Amino acid sequence: MTSLSAFAYLVSGVLFILALRGLASPETARRGNLFGIVGMALAIGTTLLAPEVKAFAGIGIAILVGGVIGAIVARTIKMTALPQLVAAFHSLVGLAAVLVAAAAFLSPEAFGVGAEGLIQTSSLIEMGLGVAIGAITFTGSLVAFAKLQGLVTGKPLVFKFQHPINLGLGILALLLIVALVLTQSHLAFYGIVAVTLALGFLLILPIGGADMPVVISMLNSYSGWAAAATGFTLENPLLIITGALVGASGAILSTIMCRGMNRSIISVILGGFGAEGGAAAAARGGDDRPVKIGSAEDAAFILKNAASVVIVPGYGMAVAQAQHALREVADLLKANGVTVRYAIHPVAGRMPGHMNVLLAEANVPYDEVLELEEINRDFGQTDAVLVIGANDVTNPAAKTDPTSPIFGMPVLDVEKAKTVLFIKRSMATGYAGVENELFYKPNTMMLFGDAKKMCETIAKALEG
Ligand code: TAP
Repeated sequence: MTSLSAFAYLVSGVLFILALRGLASPETARRGNLFGIVGMALAIGTTLLAPEVKAFAGIGIAILVGGVIGAIVARTIKMTALPQLVAAFHSLVGLAAVLVAAAAFLSPEAFGVGAEGLIQTSSLIEMGLGVAIGAITFTGSLVAFAKLQGLVTGKPLVFKFQHPINLGLGILALLLIVALVLTQSHLAFYGIVAVTLALGFLLILPIGGADMPVVISMLNSYSGWAAAATGFTLENPLLIITGALVGASGAILSTIMCRGMNRSIISVILGGFGAEGGAAAAARGGDDRPVKIGSAEDAAFILKNAASVVIVPGYGMAVAQAQHALREVADLLKANGVTVRYAIHPVAGRMPGHMNVLLAEANVPYDEVLELEEINRDFGQTDAVLVIGANDVTNPAAKTDPTSPIFGMPVLDVEKAKTVLFIKRSMATGYAGVENELFYKPNTMMLFGDAKKMCETIAKALEG
C-alpha cells in the first residue's frame, strides 16, 4: 500500500468515526450521514486505485447492479419495514465474510497468504474465525428477517435441550477451527461452515417478542466483526477499522438496549433469552370486560383542559405516519397554554431511535422529547397522557407479572396520570402479544381509529 492510499484510508476511518458521533443525536444525524457517505466514497475510490485491483469490468458491473438495487430499495422501503431490511443487509455482510474466507482458502496464492496446503497459520486463524462469525451472522440475520417480516412467528420458538445443543455446536466449531489450523483440511473448513450456519439459525430462532430489538443490534455487531475478519483476510486495514467500529458500536448499542430492556447481555449472546414462560402471559383474547370508549371530541376536551400533557408515541404512529397530524395537535394545545412533552421508550417502534426520527421529521422541538428515565417520575403530576399507537411500552405486566415475556422491561408509567387516552384501532395486543390491563382501568379512555385520522379529527375539534 502506498503512503497516499494509507493516508486516504486514515481520513476515511476518521470520517467514519465522525459519522458515528453525528448519528448519536437527531440534531447532528444528517451531518453524520454525510461524513459516512464521503468516507465510504473515499474508501472505495482509494481501493479501486490500488495496483492489485485489475478486474474493473466485474467490479463496475457489481457496483452498478448493487447501486441500482440499493437506490430502488432506499426509495421504496417503508419506514416500518426498515428493521427487516437492516436484518437482510446484515445477512449479506455475513455471507460476504464466508465467501471471501472460502476464496482465500481455495486460492491462497491469489490472496498472498501462502500456497495450497501451506497457508500461513495466522491466516488460517483469521479465516476460521471469519467464516464462523460470517456464517452465524448470515443465518441468524435470515431468521431475524423472517421473524420481523412475519414469515415465521415472532414468538419465541423454544425446544428441548436448546442451550446444551447450542453450547455443543459452539465447542464443535472451535474444535474445527483448531483442526483447520493444524491440518488445513477441506473437511474442517466445510465443517466450520456447516456447524456455524446451524448455530446462527438456532441462536436466533428461540428469541422473540419484545426481545427482538436487542437481537437486531447484536446481529449488527456480529456483522461488523465479520467484516473486520474479512479485512484481515484481504489485508485491508480500513475494512478492519470499519468492521471494528461497526462491531464495537453495535455491541455498545446492544448493551444500552439490554439495560433498557433489563436483560443480560450474556444471555443475548448465548441466544434464547426471554423465551421462558412467555406463553403463559400472552394474550388471552376474548376478554369481554367493559372499556371506556371516547371520541375525538372527548379527547380534545380533555386535552384542552389539561395543564400538562405527555404524548407517548409507538409503532402505530409509524404505521399511520401520524407524526405531522400529531404535531398539529400539540401546536394547538400549546397555543391554548397546555404544556406538551413527548416520552420516548428505548424500544418504542421497531428500530432504535424510530420515534425520534419520526418526531424530528415533523419538526418537533428536541427539548420537548424526553427519554424514559427523564420523564417517568412526572406521570404522577400529569393531567393527560396521549398514547398514540404504543402498547407494550406502557404495559404494566412488565412490572407485575413474572410469567410475562416482557417482565423486567422498564415501561412508561402512564397509568399514574389523571387520564390516559389510547389511540389504536382495536383491542389487539402489541408486538409481544401481551394483553394490556391499562385498557380496562377507570382512568383510561380508548380512542379507536387510525392514528393519523384520529389526530386530524382531534385537531379539528381543538380548532372548533
Ligand atoms: P406495540 O406494542 O407493537 O403496539 C403498537 C400498537 O399500535 C398496536 O397495539 C396496534 O394496535 C397499534 N397500531 C397499529 N397500527 C395502527 C394505526 N394505523 N393506527 C393506530 N394504532 C395502530 O408498539 P410499541 O408500544 O411501540 O412497542 C414496541 C414493541 O416492538 C416492543 O415490544 C419492542 O420490544 C418491539 N420491537 C422493538 C424494536 C425496536 S428496536 N424498537 C424492534 C423489534 C421489536 P391496533 O392493531 O389495535 O391498532
